[in-house]
Amino acid sequence: MTSLSSSDTTLSSSLRENRVFPPPEEFAAKAHVKNLAEYEALYARSVSDPDGFWNEVAQELHWFKPWEKTLEWDLPWAKWFVGGKTNLSYNCLDRHVENGKKDKVAILWEGEPGEVRKLTYGDLLAQVEKFANVLKSLGIRKGDRVAIYMGMAPELAVALLACARIGAVHSVIFGGFAANAIVDRVNDAQCVAVITQDTSFRRGSQVKLKATVDEALPHCPSVKNVVVYRRSGADVTMQAGRDHWWHELAEKVEDRCPAEELDSEDPLYILYTSGTTGKPKGLVHTTGGYAVGTYLTSKLVFDLRDDDVYWCSADIGWVTGHSYVVYGPLQNGVTVLMYEGAPNCPDYDRFWKIIDQHKVTVFYTAPTAIRAFIKWGDQYPLRYDLSSLRLLGTVGEPINPEAWMWYRDVIGKGRCPIVDTWWQTETGAIMISPLPGAVAAKPGSATRPFPGIVPEIVTKEGEPVPAGHGGLLVIRRPWPSMARTIYNDPERYKQAYWTEVPGSYFTGDGARKDEDGYFWLMGRVDDVINVSGHRLGTMEIESALVAHPKVAEAAVVGRPDELKGQGIAAFVTLESGNEPTAELREELRKWVAKEIGALARPDDLRFTEQLPKTRSGKIMRRLLRELATHGEIKGDTTTLEDFSVLAKLREQDE
Ligand code: WTA
Repeated sequence: MTSLSSSDTTLSSSLRENRVFPPPEEFAAKAHVKNLAEYEALYARSVSDPDGFWNEVAQELHWFKPWEKTLEWDLPWAKWFVGGKTNLSYNCLDRHVENGKKDKVAILWEGEPGEVRKLTYGDLLAQVEKFANVLKSLGIRKGDRVAIYMGMAPELAVALLACARIGAVHSVIFGGFAANAIVDRVNDAQCVAVITQDTSFRRGSQVKLKATVDEALPHCPSVKNVVVYRRSGADVTMQAGRDHWWHELAEKVEDRCPAEELDSEDPLYILYTSGTTGKPKGLVHTTGGYAVGTYLTSKLVFDLRDDDVYWCSADIGWVTGHSYVVYGPLQNGVTVLMYEGAPNCPDYDRFWKIIDQHKVTVFYTAPTAIRAFIKWGDQYPLRYDLSSLRLLGTVGEPINPEAWMWYRDVIGKGRCPIVDTWWQTETGAIMISPLPGAVAAKPGSATRPFPGIVPEIVTKEGEPVPAGHGGLLVIRRPWPSMARTIYNDPERYKQAYWTEVPGSYFTGDGARKDEDGYFWLMGRVDDVINVSGHRLGTMEIESALVAHPKVAEAAVVGRPDELKGQGIAAFVTLESGNEPTAELREELRKWVAKEIGALARPDDLRFTEQLPKTRSGKIMRRLLRELATHGEIKGDTTTLEDFSVLAKLREQDE
């Protein structure tokens, strides 16, 4: 399954990279962690006395009842802050309202059409309490799973926090996914309710969220209720007895709803992500450890302080939005900016306009977005005053050094440190990243581990690899925000993450460490591809293609893409009697978008009479990757079953 030959343009350019950017003095002087010695002392303490270190961090949060034991570890099963009682919604809201932040803006929201809403910590708490009572009025209780399929509205954050308040387990489904993806996820977790909205604005048109839920629900017998937030006023069908308007239910319930005293290990949410095989996996995150991990990483990596206006441009449908739009920054009591729509609507300058208008201080986005900004041109950011910015961040995929330099120069004007943060849905929180006041940056490197995190580069056998050499990235010790299991499939959790390199957490990423102890991520070593920072399994796309009546077999691989990081190339054989026409090619690309979501639509789809296979019948993906990348095959092909297949694939490479 794993191969270390992950070919990646980022790798080749980052191997030549030797620029170093120390933290700007002015920034470092005010930072939480002010210099390398402080970082190194903090890190040394965190690994020599992890219990003591995490205990101190956890004490900065609110607990109804203190924990008895910091960590119970029975590989791969972890329990953190054992016996403690806490609540994430309390830590995000009540704690700040009690500490004089009632009137401070918690969420500063801008809709794509341009309207602005400001919700103070007091407002947000009131809305969350109300909506928690709405959930209760529908019979939703602690432990019940609730699916959320919404756009980027403040009510989406309210929905998450209301679930957290009563101990219902939220399962957010990205609003760009198709009905089938809702069906799979809702059924896997047996969700009892769905929270959605009429429509959401995106690039000038409307995303029909409620209609997509309607398409999915006939296949989801566990769902008893649907709550619909009215965002746009667009016409939607409401099914009597099942569908309810959010605002109508809210009128009928009490205002106050005290936060439930939850066990530290009570599940907080399920979030689905793509793996190597089968359907997406529902990673389970629990309460106490996730709270501590997202709180501390937000505080130290984004160096948060009271007067920050913090903007993470990720959608809450992904883990980045869970940890760094909602739970991390709100636990730190900052003002969180949320934007509903696309970066190029109505014009290519929208993000810079938002930063200027709302005086954003910390901005966190994805390399794929940065590459798009570069392509659109410097004139757009140059129109605005971006001097409020003091820190920039990236996440989701390796950033090529040139994009990093553009971000630094054109957006940060050379003043703002950049944090390149490596982490995953499974890790819950940032694992490798510079602390911006302490660790010098090198363009393209996520730099050094976060306190308490012990990453290492190893061989398949688990042997450490010397500095400068590529290998598998593993994490040697448990950490508080780690996913605890895969929903309903603990065996798969163990298999996918803890058996590849025995005794360690296997990330699925290849990386190398340089002589200064800096980590350079090289991309996935498994069959997961990363398209615009979004994780997709090649298997998922293959299954979608094969589900089409005219398709016999399909193989999907990633190939480098200048904007998206990776693009999707699909090789398809047809059932006999079907002609490989341009129309069919289009039909199949659309089909995949319909089955999974637009983000999974193949960029390149080629027909072939046969797929290249080994004598034992395995598809030779390496060859297909090479063909998709370079249009030609290098290397050893002696195990190919039928050489003529290659020639035919190549012919289409016009
Ligand atoms: C990739 C997103 C290089 C990596 C938070 C990982 C990165 C996968 C970086 C997780 C980074 C994320 N540099 N690669 N800074 N951040 N990745 O679960 O391959 O959507 O395994 O979590 O994205 O994607 P996921």
